[in-house]
Amino acid sequence: MSGKAGTFIVGGVVGILLIAVVFGGEAAVSRTEFCISCHSEIYPYEELKKSSHWGALGADPGCKDCHVPQGFSNFHKAIYTHVVDGLPFLIKEFTTDYSTVEKFNEHRPEAAFRARMKLKEWDSLTCRACHKNVKAPGASAKAAHAKMQSEGATCIDCHQNLVHKKVPEHDLNASLAQGQPVAKVEPKKKDDDEEDEKD
Ligand code: HEC
Ligand code: HEC
Ligand code: HEC
Ligand code: HEC
Repeated sequence: MSGKAGTFIVGGVVGILLIAVVFGGEAAVSRTEFCISCHSEIYPYEELKKSSHWGALGADPGCKDCHVPQGFSNFHKAIYTHVVDGLPFLIKEFTTDYSTVEKFNEHRPEAAFRARMKLKEWDSLTCRACHKNVKAPGASAKAAHAKMQSEGATCIDCHQNLVHKKVPEHDLNASLAQGQPVAKVEPKKKDDDEEDEKD
């Protein structure tokens, strides 16, 4: 797309967004339809519909259920950072080629990393809205879940690759500490040097 047309469309979308926010409030921009006005092109909805979160207990989650903390006090957390403050996303949407899933996949690792870090920052607030008292299915899960008290672990530290195409997991504590994506070291491999830097 030519630069001028891009600028024009971005301007138009910003205008529509502002109108939506002023008249429709948070709800207007939290609707799945709104998200997939861009993200239909970038595939996560199709993936969600194939996931175990779809059709479970009749609760088909919308994008906001995981990505947009609900309630006006939380409004800024997602919409503001992603859409209003996130002008770069609008520009990116119109300047990046997402026409095939392969093209989107080139950007997916960074996008997944950012999505994980947001959930980490929110202490998995959105997950907890549905998963109130999680019953751990066995002893190892019980021990893992106890780390939420003992080590300040949060859902997304352990439950990555939930509904979208798989992306290699990140160690979110190490990523926070180092300010860049750090791959998760699989605990099973004995030959891996497992020196976590604990702060
Ligand atoms: C104007 C188009 C547009 C709209 C509307 C939009 N997104 Fe995005 N979104 C993008 C683009 C572009 C990216 C960056 C993809 C990449 O990294 O290449 C992105 C990335 C993301 C990511 C990955 C994490 C991140 O911060 O990069 C999530 C999660 C996400 N969007 C969720 C949503 C949700 C939920 C909604 C609806 C409330 C929404 N988006 C609405 C264009 C949009
Ligand atoms: C049940 C929770 C859940 C729902 C519902 C959900 N997502 Fe996600 N999404 C995640 C998680 C968790 C990640 C972080 C990456 C990972 O570990 O899978 C993510 C990552 C993403 C990314 C980054 C790219 C990627 O593939 O990882 C985008 C873009 C995104 N989501 C958009 C959406 C959109 C649009 C919707 C609605 C159609 C949606 N998500 C619904 C949990 C969810
Ligand atoms: C809209 C409500 C809702 C939200 C939001 C939600 N879940 Fe779920 N989740 C469910 C339901 C319903 C099931 C399936 C029933 C069951 O197994 O308990 C499920 C299943 C799971 C499972 C077991 C099955 C699997 O797919 O691995 C895990 C783990 C899980 N969720 C973690 C999360 C995490 C982490 C988040 C936040 C990123 C999240 N959920 C957000 C409702 C939700
Ligand atoms: C320290 C790691 C860790 C953390 C933090 C954690 N979990 Fe788990 N969780 C596990 C392990 C390990 C299991 C058992 C194996 C599995 O099913 O993945 C499990 C099991 C589950 C299951 C049952 C899956 C099934 O197949 O029945 C659900 C649902 C779940 N966790 C949700 C959550 C939610 C929601 C949070 C945050 C409130 C959370 N977990 C935090 C590690 C963790």
